[in-house]
Amino acid sequence: MNQYFATVAKGLESLMVAELEQLGAKDVEPGFCGASFKGDRTLLYKVNLWARLPFRILQRLDEFDCETSDDLFVGVQQIDWSQYLQPDHTLAVTATGKTGELNHTHFNALQVKNAIVHQQTKAFGERSDVDTQTPDVRVNVHLHDERATVSLDSSGDSLHRRGYRPAVGAAPLKESLASALITLSGWQPQQAFFDPLCGSGTLPLEAGLRSLNIAPGLFRERFGFETWLDFDPSLWDALLDEAEAQQKEDLAAFIGGCDRDPNVLIQAHSNAQKCGIEHLLSFRQRELADVEAPADSGILLCNPPYGERLGADSDLGAFYKLLGNVLKQRFKGWTAYIISGNKALSSTIGLKSASRTPVYNGQLLCQLMKYELY
Ligand SMILES: C[S@@+](CC[C@H](N)C(=O)[O-])C[C@H]1O[C@@H](n2cnc3c(N)ncnc32)[C@H](O)[C@@H]1O
Repeated sequence: MNQYFATVAKGLESLMVAELEQLGAKDVEPGFCGASFKGDRTLLYKVNLWARLPFRILQRLDEFDCETSDDLFVGVQQIDWSQYLQPDHTLAVTATGKTGELNHTHFNALQVKNAIVHQQTKAFGERSDVDTQTPDVRVNVHLHDERATVSLDSSGDSLHRRGYRPAVGAAPLKESLASALITLSGWQPQQAFFDPLCGSGTLPLEAGLRSLNIAPGLFRERFGFETWLDFDPSLWDALLDEAEAQQKEDLAAFIGGCDRDPNVLIQAHSNAQKCGIEHLLSFRQRELADVEAPADSGILLCNPPYGERLGADSDLGAFYKLLGNVLKQRFKGWTAYIISGNKALSSTIGLKSASRTPVYNGQLLCQLMKYELY
């Protein structure tokens, strides 16, 4: 059994634990911005293919005391790197965290790279080239509490980049955050799902993929583990075939969104097309003031502009008031969830929230507010 760590946005650790357990991971424990778990190679591939919340799945190689740059160099050299990469493989190192003396991630990454290529040169007379974009092997070093953890990054590019979204609106949600918000809303595929401010469609798309049991990793061009020395192509192909066979043909209920901006709706259509589900999702151009409920009940989930990334806007207060009125008047029987990073604006909605859950959107602490609409 290998030891893995799934990295996730701050605050989503317990959701990450639940998702990993559901995928069959063993000994799952929450950690800082992630969760550790145990499993075999099949599980590693499966989590990369199916998990909707994490950024990366790291395979732990070693952990050691580390206070100085020499400790880091020597500790990394204790690992037999010939098991993981050969001189004709390209390499990149990512460093995160810090300890007292080692507080520059760039320096720490360089030190790890130097230790690896030094070992290679001694053993083979040649060394791996560095490729920071698409290396064959990406090494991750995490420093915390005078300890270093060295891992291989099995995902490559962050898993939130599903590959279906070349096109994004002005302030798109990360796919993994959209999926986490859907989990937090408790939405089930037999309920209608609607985003009245859908932008490039991330929330309806993530709901659609879940409803159709489509693995979120199916649209990616590559995963880090595909260029590892121990890559098992027949196992990977079998998991891809199995995932494709498990897809459903139809949604159990309405899923869609509206936006006033025709350009972002073109992006939403193009993203849905990339997923092969354009014919199942509904995207319509509508001013918020003209939006009607697409069903008698369901889950409404949206992230309105909140003045951080789309620029401060003096009309935003009136916009939030309008949003509250539309919910109150047209969505009786629904449960609405609104994520906002602006407390002052969210109080102008004029509805009493049933709960507020703190959620990070990047570095910004937001609230996911729940409204029961009677
Ligand atoms: C923060 S973005 C939503 C991003 C979206 N979740 C995504 O992932 O792409 C807010 C969206 O609200 C839309 N919007 C703003 N004011 C609107 C209005 N009055 N009526 C309809 N849509 C509006 C904008 O066009 C924008 O696409």
